[in-house]
Amino acid sequence: MRHDSGGVTGLGAVGRRDTADDCDTAENRGATANHGATVNDHGATVNDREAAVDFDVIVDRRGTASFKWDKYEGRDVIPLWVADMDFAAPSAIIAALHQRVAHGVFGYTREPDGLTAAVQASLLVEYAWRVEPEWLVWLPGLVSGLNVLCRAIGERGDSVATFTPVYPPFLTAPVLAERNVAKVPLVWDEGGWRMDLDTLERSLTPRTRLLLLCSPHNPVGRVWSEAELRAVAQIACEHGLVIGSDDIHAGLVLDEDKRHIPIATLDVDTAGRTITLMAPSKTFNIPGLGCSFAVISDPSLREAFRRAMEGIVPHVNVLGYVAAQAAYEAGEVWRRHLIAYLQGNRDLVERELSAMPGLSVAHVEATYLAWVDARQSGLADPTRAFEQAGVGLSDGAAFDGPGFVRLNFGCRRALLAEGLARMRSALP
Ligand SMILES: Cc1ncc(COP(=O)(O)O)c(C=O)c1O
Repeated sequence: MRHDSGGVTGLGAVGRRDTADDCDTAENRGATANHGATVNDHGATVNDREAAVDFDVIVDRRGTASFKWDKYEGRDVIPLWVADMDFAAPSAIIAALHQRVAHGVFGYTREPDGLTAAVQASLLVEYAWRVEPEWLVWLPGLVSGLNVLCRAIGERGDSVATFTPVYPPFLTAPVLAERNVAKVPLVWDEGGWRMDLDTLERSLTPRTRLLLLCSPHNPVGRVWSEAELRAVAQIACEHGLVIGSDDIHAGLVLDEDKRHIPIATLDVDTAGRTITLMAPSKTFNIPGLGCSFAVISDPSLREAFRRAMEGIVPHVNVLGYVAAQAAYEAGEVWRRHLIAYLQGNRDLVERELSAMPGLSVAHVEATYLAWVDARQSGLADPTRAFEQAGVGLSDGAAFDGPGFVRLNFGCRRALLAEGLARMRSALP
């Protein structure tokens, strides 16, 4: 592996002057660069630089205390596990951080008004979702949000339903809140993963109070369709469930013919029973800056959520707010370049893995994570075997998917290709 600190040249930022309302049409949703109300002073110049975003540039992450890279420090193992990407953030974010750092005073900070406006504009443009400023509850991380949710809804001994396999905190947060987890297995059907709503209904008891939804879904990479979401909402309505929807991967839809629909946007009843968790962290690769938010339109649910946070959940740090605002205001062009690059990586992963004996992978509609079935590979412990061959993957067992591995393709294509070749070499 060759590493240099290729840095951030070539990344840029753009702000456009469109108003959110201009873009509020079905064909514009998800296809527009407008992210907001504010315009970056550098306008056209920065826009030109965005055209040259280069995700193949090598950014050396070793020695930066990165979870992903430090795990294999001193070993020849390509880290394709924990869900952050190896790419530098959009230069608009880096510039905004520089500017804030230069101020030099880092006191207690509330969310900037400009951030609230930028989030409102983004949700309106992307999902035709009009949210009021008071619906937003700021959080230093989405995992905190999942844990707060489980404490806020219902009581000790109640049940939380969720589809599995799933991002591990969906399984641990209910337990930490002294709730039971009702696991509803996703089913593999004609080459794709789908929800089994009969099993969901059968798993519900009078003590099931909360349904945790991962949308888009980590790890299976599904973008839930409107029909699927409507069916879930219907069940939630019939059984009086609160829906906790983790939409952290919403900005990472890879299929051109799919769009993310926040379940809260379906209708008034669903909006009133839903707590949506969102963040710019996955999309703009800033998870280490810890800035997320919940959208809660119902005042009593919001009050319950805030009460569960009280005295335990700290404020978002000042740099997290700054980065989030820059992301929503000026990150859209970078995001579109990213999606194009990730589509290429996704296609490579699917092509290579489907040609390897004993491995299969579902089509990844969203996220930069591939869920790989290694149960027919002949490897007793696939994660260990791949690691021995020089690739670090996430063990599916933690997601309630033993025999599977999760591969993070948010990295340079050449590194990914080398990782895939090493996987091939591990197979009998
Ligand atoms: C579905 C999902 N939720 C939450 C998180 C983590 O959120 P945070 O880092 O804000 O706690 C991840 C990270 O991989 C994720 O995939």
